[in-house]
Amino acid sequence: MEFQDVVRRRRMVRRYSTEPVAPGSVDRLVRNAVRAPSAGFSQGWGFLVLERPEDVARFWEAATPPARAAQPDRWLRGMRTAPVVIVPFSSEAAYRRRYGEADKTRADHTDGAGARDARWAVPYWHVDAGMAALLILQTAVDEGLGACFFGVPPGRVAHLRAAFGVPADHTPVGAVTIGHPAPDERPGGSALRRPRRPLDDVVHRGRWSS
Ligand SMILES: Cc1cc2nc3c(=O)[nH]c(=O)nc-3n(C[C@H](O)[C@H](O)[C@H](O)COP(=O)(O)O)c2cc1C
Repeated sequence: MEFQDVVRRRRMVRRYSTEPVAPGSVDRLVRNAVRAPSAGFSQGWGFLVLERPEDVARFWEAATPPARAAQPDRWLRGMRTAPVVIVPFSSEAAYRRRYGEADKTRADHTDGAGARDARWAVPYWHVDAGMAALLILQTAVDEGLGACFFGVPPGRVAHLRAAFGVPADHTPVGAVTIGHPAPDERPGGSALRRPRRPLDDVVHRGRWSS
């Protein structure tokens, strides 16, 4: 598929058919994910890949607040039809280790007192895992699949780690459902309720304000 078509066609898919995802497609999703850029090439990420129905079921059990699980809404019922879930994790510890290495501790990389924390204007570990997640979403489109990135409720993170033996220093930046879109699947979510902001509102050429 043309790259521009991948970008244009990508949207979140929240309901899937029973058609299984080919193992080769899942392999390509993760192989492309690790082509993402990462600060200092830290690669402080990890991808929990769930393809067996019992593993996917365990994901939903761990990631869903009990009150919501007891009365699943349309969103949850749709998302649970996904045959594959990939959870991208980020590790702050990996970045702290990487940025403690010789090539990253030179004077020009530090900022005096509190230098260790002054390295990052934003948490690069989440940025990088987010970039990898976008590659998963785009690769899904290129594979003729649908996918949806969504948040893991903060109160369920510990449950998710415990259910799958994830180390405590890894945090899920979200989760991605993947599968073939259901025949009756239609665009939904916030994108249906609010317009894309005009380019002129968000792009500032040369200077922010006039
Ligand atoms: C960080 C992040 C968190 C999101 N969380 C959710 C979510 O919890 N549930 C959901 O249905 N969609 C979620 N989305 C999807 C957005 O609603 C969606 O990307 C946006 O409305 C634009 O629609 P599109 O991606 O279909 O073009 C999330 C997207 C991002 C980037």
